[in-house]
Amino acid sequence: MTRLGVNIDHVATLRQARGGKEPEPVAAAILVESAGADGIVVHLREDRRHVQDRDLQLLRQIITTHLNLEMAPTTDMVNTAIEIGPDLVTLVPERREELTTEGGLEVIKQRERLKKVLATLHKNNIKVSIFIDPDIKQIETAHEIGAKIIEIHTGMYANASAPHEAERERENILNAVMFAKNIGLHVSAGHGLNYKNVSRIANIREIEELNIGHSIISRAVLVGIERAVGEMKRLISET
Ligand code: PXP
Repeated sequence: MTRLGVNIDHVATLRQARGGKEPEPVAAAILVESAGADGIVVHLREDRRHVQDRDLQLLRQIITTHLNLEMAPTTDMVNTAIEIGPDLVTLVPERREELTTEGGLEVIKQRERLKKVLATLHKNNIKVSIFIDPDIKQIETAHEIGAKIIEIHTGMYANASAPHEAERERENILNAVMFAKNIGLHVSAGHGLNYKNVSRIANIREIEELNIGHSIISRAVLVGIERAVGEMKRLISET
């Protein structure tokens, strides 16, 4: 069954809006796990706009499922990952001015540097996933430099303005997933997935895990985080 990783960055965003202690991401993680999520995802950004170092340290101690740390492939972040020891690192591109991650990692252009980052993390027994557009050449390069796991960026599908466009983007994702599987990669997917658009991605059986944040935390504000996670988990497993 497809696993669900829940990104709790925006619990921290809400806390940072007042610079205080509430809501506590650690409390959110405990509830998310008890609602049936298969893992917790956090993005430690260079500007620390939401998740803080102390969150990561505490989450590492309390999480009983799977901790996926999203991070830019920088020396500082590699050192942090080695110190914390997440179950998985997902390498993502990062630009200070962006509202959210705006595309997959440019693997071809950064080939040699990423190869070193992958080797260092692997040497420290940390699994690594590369967040990547549904682009065959990028995926092929990720494989060549030693990646074993990729996460396909579903943003173009999620942001499509018309059904036929969404269908075209889904085809791209499907082709990318099949290509990646055929060369032996494990495949996850995520970004922009919500309660309406998730089923058409969840029904691609080769995708092992979906990572979802904003839509779940938004719904949690209205109905509670356990119900929001439970509903998403059900949608994914029903397809
Ligand atoms: N996967 C990756 C690699 C991401 O960077 C993000 C956003 O932090 C997500 C999944 C979740 O995206 P969303 O918040 O749009 O569900």
